[in-house]
Amino acid sequence: MKHYAPLASARAKTIWLLGHPVAHSLSPLMQNVALRHLSENVVYLAADVDKSSFQSAVDGLVALGALGANVTVPYKELAYSMCDELDVSAQAIGACNVLRFKDGKVDGYNTDWIGWLRAMQSVVKKIPPSKALVVGAGGASRAVVYALLQWGVSDIVVLNRSLDRAERLVQSLASGRSTSVKARPLEEFYVHLDSSSLVVQTTSIGLDGISSPVELKRDWPKEVILSELIYGLKTPLLKHARLYGGLTQDGLPMLVNQAALSLSIWLERPLEDIPTDEMIAKARLALG
Ligand code: ATR
Repeated sequence: MKHYAPLASARAKTIWLLGHPVAHSLSPLMQNVALRHLSENVVYLAADVDKSSFQSAVDGLVALGALGANVTVPYKELAYSMCDELDVSAQAIGACNVLRFKDGKVDGYNTDWIGWLRAMQSVVKKIPPSKALVVGAGGASRAVVYALLQWGVSDIVVLNRSLDRAERLVQSLASGRSTSVKARPLEEFYVHLDSSSLVVQTTSIGLDGISSPVELKRDWPKEVILSELIYGLKTPLLKHARLYGGLTQDGLPMLVNQAALSLSIWLERPLEDIPTDEMIAKARLALG
């Protein structure tokens, strides 16, 4: 029989989600299921914070003895700029999605990249893919490109609507490396598709269920895997790839993996302890 920790006792610790907006987030559901399962006397809560209050919110949580926080859109770069210490990946990516409060200090981590990588490695048999196309050059793209570099993908093409942003991303993440990492305009998607083995869609285009960042004008090569970072609905791009027999993964496994990794940091417990299956089940239930 499982022993559940009493909720909100005087000894309970807190972990927070800070962002704007946060009301739609699955993190509180997933994290509290895991915390109960682990019999930790810790509660995970969400706070919708204004940009002007972000620093004082973090200072307040440190003063209250919170264990840490997840940081979500649009504050991951801001969080990065205010940490006392940063792990290597957060430093390279330039963004933090995890803050840990210890001894009055704020340590910043990035678990997005490794959350994505673990999710991908659970479906990709050929390790690593030879060529990857990354659609988008925002914060999510930075984490994915960093993950592809760590994985050892030898040919990476970052496609973006505004080429200069993709060029800046490539410059900051890949300069001095032997890997081929190129920035190209989004219109070149079909120039590179057939020679790729993996496509990662990192923009929010498709969240409305009708739009796509690339024109769906021809068949999808069925040996090309699609990683779509959007979750909670099947985007037109994901449906299109599936229609032609392409292997696809949506953003839910990445979300759950980054959450599990975050929890292992705050609780100082090995990742194997974290009940990832229960977290996925809870998230799927909430998504219907
Ligand atoms: P995130 O942190 O979630 O990645 P972001 O930093 O705002 O979000 O980045 C959004 C990405 O979506 C960018 O690559 C953006 O392209 P631009 O750099 O050219 O703005 C891309 N994007 C947004 N709207 C788009 C659209 N209508 N078509 C194609 N790409 C779009």
